[in-house]
Amino acid sequence: MDDEKEPLPTRREVLALAVAGSAGLLVAACTPAPKPVPSLKPTEPTEEGEKMAAGKVLAGAHQVVPLPFDPKKLTGLSEKLLVSHHENNYAGAVKNLNKVEADLAGITKDTPPYLVSGLKERELTFTNSKILHELYFGNLGGDGKAAGDIKKLLEQEYGSFDRWETEFRVVGQGLGGGSGWVILAYNFQTGLVQSYWSGGHTQNVAFGQPLLVMDILDYGAAAGKYIDAFFQNINWAEVDRRLGRAQKAAALLRG
Ligand SMILES: [Fe+2]
Repeated sequence: MDDEKEPLPTRREVLALAVAGSAGLLVAACTPAPKPVPSLKPTEPTEEGEKMAAGKVLAGAHQVVPLPFDPKKLTGLSEKLLVSHHENNYAGAVKNLNKVEADLAGITKDTPPYLVSGLKERELTFTNSKILHELYFGNLGGDGKAAGDIKKLLEQEYGSFDRWETEFRVVGQGLGGGSGWVILAYNFQTGLVQSYWSGGHTQNVAFGQPLLVMDILDYGAAAGKYIDAFFQNINWAEVDRRLGRAQKAAALLRG
């Protein structure tokens, strides 16, 4: 999905808002940069997400993971589309996450709570964008032929594999023309593998492990064609590997 491109206010712009007592981050993005406020040093963010002096949290050091496949070799999904989405949407979210962490590292007890709320919302959005995009790219590059335990499990849980696939596709079509995700996840609370709708980066099942992630790219009315192409390139071996890890984790959680 595409909201990673949303302009992020710079640290100076956020501080400008704090100083001016204005109403929101949106306004901050349009506010001329004033002098920096000393209390927030040393948190000057850099384009590369410079490491902060604090601990591991808010280190602003997230890295972009390269595409795990040759984008020239996918069926029905263009190299241009995949590379652009990786470089702009995904990598943009990673860079913005580093910037948000740098800003959060600088908050004090005197920072207005509404500014912190705005930054925390962006932190969650960019964090989930990073996670979901890496899972999405990670489950592409295959031959689309379902196999393994995951196929058997979907047959058992949905009555047939086709029934699962039909639902997954239709959920995707319902999101077409907008943005969002369809996520097949292992639900640790129920122990079931189930597909979930996600209208945004922050609408995921709360206690689950994503197994198969489909990003809804901007195809408008042609969403069905994109979904066809997505299914032709699913790396089911990777989905099966994620299932195995989730089942091991579930066994540990049951104690
Ligand atoms: Fe995306």
